[in-house]
Amino acid sequence: MSVRTGAAVNLATNAAHAIGERGGTITIRLEPAGAARLRLTVADDGCGMGADIKARIFEAFFTTKELGKGTGLGLCLVHGIVTSHEGTIGVRSALGEGTRFDIFLPAATESKHRAEPADESGGKMRRLSAAST
Ligand SMILES: Nc1ncnc2c1ncn2[C@@H]1O[C@H](COP(=O)(O)OP(=O)(O)OP(=O)(O)O)[C@@H](O)[C@H]1O
Ligand SMILES: [Mg+2]
Repeated sequence: MSVRTGAAVNLATNAAHAIGERGGTITIRLEPAGAARLRLTVADDGCGMGADIKARIFEAFFTTKELGKGTGLGLCLVHGIVTSHEGTIGVRSALGEGTRFDIFLPAATESKHRAEPADESGGKMRRLSAAST
């Protein structure tokens, strides 16, 4: 699964939980955001979060769901994957009003990811030889 799809699925699952059985609106958008960057937005008008919860959502195993319903790893994984691809993730939320996640990624994330092992060793070797001269 691509970075963009994985993040969208994870955030959309959370959005569906936030809306619950009452129903609501989930918006998923992927659009250009400046030079060679893309913005993935997932927004919902569900339960929202207070500042205390919002401050902890990217922690591993942090969940407000009842035992057996959530691992608390979803956003931790999304955050790790996004930052490892030189992306950023931001969140805005208000209790009772909803939540909006914005992820910014380099437009070429997928091809870059496939080329990573070769690029990395090449980069290290170049840095080593530069340091020894
Ligand atoms: N869209 C949202 N609206 C309200 N609260 C949210 C939203 N997304 C995340 N949260 C809060 O952040 C917590 C952590 O989310 P995360 O995805 O990491 O774990 P989880 O959803 O609880 O478990 P899992 O992803 O393993 O099912 C959630 O338990 C919830 O309290
Ligand atoms: Mg989740």
